[in-house]
Amino acid sequence: MTQVDAQVWTERCRHLLEGNQIRSDGFRYTRPAPHVYEYQWLWDSCFHAVTYRWFDGAMAWDELRSLVQHQVVGGADAGMIPHMAYWQADGAALWGEATRSIITQPPLLATAAWLVHEQHPNQAALAELYPRLVAYQDWFDRRRDLDGDDLVTLIHPWESGWDASPRWDAAMGLQNPTAAQSKAARHALVERLREHGCDAHALRAAGSFAVKAPDFNAIRAAECEALGRIAQALNLAETSRWQQKAAAIQHAVQTKCLRPVADQLVAHDLFGQDETATSPDSAAKFVLLFGGCASSEQVPALLTALRSDRYFTPYPVPTTPQDSPVFDGDTYWRGNVWLAVNWLIVRGLRRYHEHAIADEITRRSLELVDRAHFHEYFNPVTGQGHGPAQQSWSAVVLDLLKTVP
Ligand code: GLC
Repeated sequence: MTQVDAQVWTERCRHLLEGNQIRSDGFRYTRPAPHVYEYQWLWDSCFHAVTYRWFDGAMAWDELRSLVQHQVVGGADAGMIPHMAYWQADGAALWGEATRSIITQPPLLATAAWLVHEQHPNQAALAELYPRLVAYQDWFDRRRDLDGDDLVTLIHPWESGWDASPRWDAAMGLQNPTAAQSKAARHALVERLREHGCDAHALRAAGSFAVKAPDFNAIRAAECEALGRIAQALNLAETSRWQQKAAAIQHAVQTKCLRPVADQLVAHDLFGQDETATSPDSAAKFVLLFGGCASSEQVPALLTALRSDRYFTPYPVPTTPQDSPVFDGDTYWRGNVWLAVNWLIVRGLRRYHEHAIADEITRRSLELVDRAHFHEYFNPVTGQGHGPAQQSWSAVVLDLLKTVP
């Protein structure tokens, strides 16, 4: 990629993100897409901040600052950062809370803060965020580590960020659902969460959706590593606490979730109390690399799978492998390419020094946006874009481009 290309991409991404910026109550954030996603979403804002760091450091910090404003302050869920913030206070009908949702999303805040800090060092911003991010992790330990095994449990598919993935069908009591059925089930589940006060123990005992998702836990391992770096930068004596926590999560994911099925290594989502039921193979297993959750013996099998036709489609990486009976490249989360997921995978590959394949996924991700604009998601075979064409997080391809070694 030449310098000129990088400049062109920077301007395209700047144009997209600036068009989606919202100001509210003295804060600034970026909506995921006009009309369709007007609120603030947790992991989206982290991807936005990572993108902004290449052209607007002040906005990158503001995006993260706004994201922690709706952290829960009192009650059983104190410390949780909600997956959606309703700056116009119009969330009550769904959640029973005006300004926020009652569930979370993949914790990428410390990771994003550290990446922004590398580019635009800001001790004051780190110091402001740190206690809030610590409280968020304490909330995970208190409310979601149900078995003391360092793996947190999700109580709604929305928490995974992979809303309608076939991974969740069985745990949602669905079989080959239509998009409408799957959506209705997710909305009905919110009622159940409200009835149980979002108590994960109670929900699991009642047979409700309660899943230990390995990719979510891997992202949390990376979050703890980033908290260790932030603690060090702030001269706090807590670095080893976070390193130990990250190592414990990595060990748990590696040994409990990443296991073979026939000739494939599969990242198992562990369902319910007995953890015997699990989900089908998916690209979640590649996200494990992001959190350092694969051992050196496991990495070759993951790479073989990633390079195979199952996953290395013309536009990789489909979230469901294309030989799966439920693969559907055009339907929301049933087998599409999502550039935010690609970002996690590419960074994971680089962590393990697998640069050639990371470069190739980067190249094809850029080609996809070139052909199909900043769509929300794409068909991994035809490259056709779906969902809004001005989806903010698809601009994260800029970070992929900028971080090619
Ligand atoms: C969809 C995605 C979710 C994302 C949100 C906003 O709900 O499934 O992961 O955070 O849109 O872009």
